[in-house]
Amino acid sequence: MSGIQKAPYVRDETPGRKVWCACGESENQPYCDGSHSRKETGKVPVVVMLAETKKVAWCGCRQSAMNPFCDGTHKKL
Ligand code: FES
Repeated sequence: MSGIQKAPYVRDETPGRKVWCACGESENQPYCDGSHSRKETGKVPVVVMLAETKKVAWCGCRQSAMNPFCDGTHKKL
């Protein structure tokens, strides 16, 4: 089942390395679970380092110009 949705995944994050699912196929949205490789999607995840504890709006539509973060593009879809 695809994890692509017309809304961000809002999560309370702790500092550290985060791996955002770019293909939409992960079963652990919004994080990569390796599905992009198993399903040969041709996409790769985006790795970011968060410096602080904060709420993050991870892009769920995969159309954001600021991937992996929501930029409001989903509202125009
Ligand atoms: S979910 Fe908001 S821009 Fe993708």
